[in-house]
Amino acid sequence: MDKAFDRLLVRGGNTLRGVVRMEGAKNAALPVLAACLLADGESRILGVPELDDVGTMCSVLRRLGGAVSRTAADEVVVRFDGIRTSEAPQDLVRKMRASVLVMGPLLARTGLARACLPGGCAIGARPIDLHLKGFALMGAAVTCDRGFVEVSAPRLKGTRIYLDYPSVGATENLMMAASLAEGFTCIDNAAEEPEVVDLANFLCCMGARVTGAGTKMIRIEGCDSLRPTTYSIIPDRIEAGTFMTAAAIAGGDVLVQNVVVEHVKPIIAKLLDAGCEVSEDPEGSIRVVGPDRPRATDVRTLPYPGFPTDMQPQMMALLSVAGGVSMVTETVFENRFMHVDEFKRMGANIHVDGRTAVVRGVDHLTGAVVRATDLRAGAALLIAGLRSHGTTEILGVQHLDRGYSDFAGKMRSIGAEVVRAREAATEAFLESAATRRLDL
Ligand code: EPZ
Repeated sequence: MDKAFDRLLVRGGNTLRGVVRMEGAKNAALPVLAACLLADGESRILGVPELDDVGTMCSVLRRLGGAVSRTAADEVVVRFDGIRTSEAPQDLVRKMRASVLVMGPLLARTGLARACLPGGCAIGARPIDLHLKGFALMGAAVTCDRGFVEVSAPRLKGTRIYLDYPSVGATENLMMAASLAEGFTCIDNAAEEPEVVDLANFLCCMGARVTGAGTKMIRIEGCDSLRPTTYSIIPDRIEAGTFMTAAAIAGGDVLVQNVVVEHVKPIIAKLLDAGCEVSEDPEGSIRVVGPDRPRATDVRTLPYPGFPTDMQPQMMALLSVAGGVSMVTETVFENRFMHVDEFKRMGANIHVDGRTAVVRGVDHLTGAVVRATDLRAGAALLIAGLRSHGTTEILGVQHLDRGYSDFAGKMRSIGAEVVRAREAATEAFLESAATRRLDL
């Protein structure tokens, strides 16, 4: 069904209360699914969220010769009996940049990987030069021609790789390639994100010898072959942070379940700075009680364990109604302030100067028609709508579907007045919102 006309309609003013449960991590599911290419046989992945990006990765695997099926609400089975082609499908790579994560496994398994360069997106140029440099250091021939890149090597050779930047994708692609290389590979200045650790754990379950994941130095001893396995992925820390921030802005009291507390420590720290009460239980739940009005605080995004860039738009929404002035600095992507203009339509007072946004908190925002420019910006606009007078209409809902499953339904379950409407429902929503009835 064409989602181009779908929109989220959110009426501000409600306090959020209740319990909401997080899904498995999108950014762990994508590399783990790609890693299934490394072995013939059937792998069973549990905790896989139902998201458009996951669907795209499953389609990529099918095009490469895999049989992929969703066998339960959060379970995907992947089976390979050989690999049909070493070329990542161009249409899908263009649709989802993370498709390039199949390059490492394809190169390791077949000696060849070919893909169109993924190209940039709303948040930045998103090059893959660090991936390609690592493949070359492992002995691959790398050629770029007319927008396509081809990497080939009869057998990759273990080596020492220093990443100029702790790129998550490059760390993941090179770890997968090294798992079937000859000899030892060290990835220095590696990404330390929990999703990198999850992939390393999956590879070890397949028989790979990976140590040091979660630190700056990852060591991989190459094997001749790997085996399929069953694995359960970690919960989504960014979805958790998104709902925690929604509770913070709406002055709510929300219990977020299925969270690895360690993974959201930087988000907890910022919500405490902003005046929230945050309590955690070892069972993996976090309770957030929002203040009447958030306090201003400064945010600088950094690679893990710093504050995550994928939470920057959501935090900016919170700070746009804080008492005081906040500085938000985006150090990871060069263009991740596209949401600022949309916040300004709602009355936010934000001035961008290069990689820093000066956010002068206002008493309240006002509902407006706004457009999501990427999935995290879309989530942030809904958060801003929770604390706005009147109704906010969010276009570009297809971005949200890439990384959040049933976002509106989960928000409604804790008291938000939000509905996903097609064109025709807009008037009905506005009328029903006026009478506080939302049975669209
Ligand atoms: C992953 O993207 C995530 N996506 C992103 O989440 C996340 O924002 C990002 O890591 C940073 O944490 C997935 O895991 C599928 P990077 P990735 O390589 O791997 C530059 C979301 O909302 N760079 O760590 O593409 C790059 O341009 C998405 O779920 C190079 O210069 O991120 C960027 O400025 C958005 N050359 C910085 O590094 C390279 O070869 C970080 O990129 C690779 C990256």
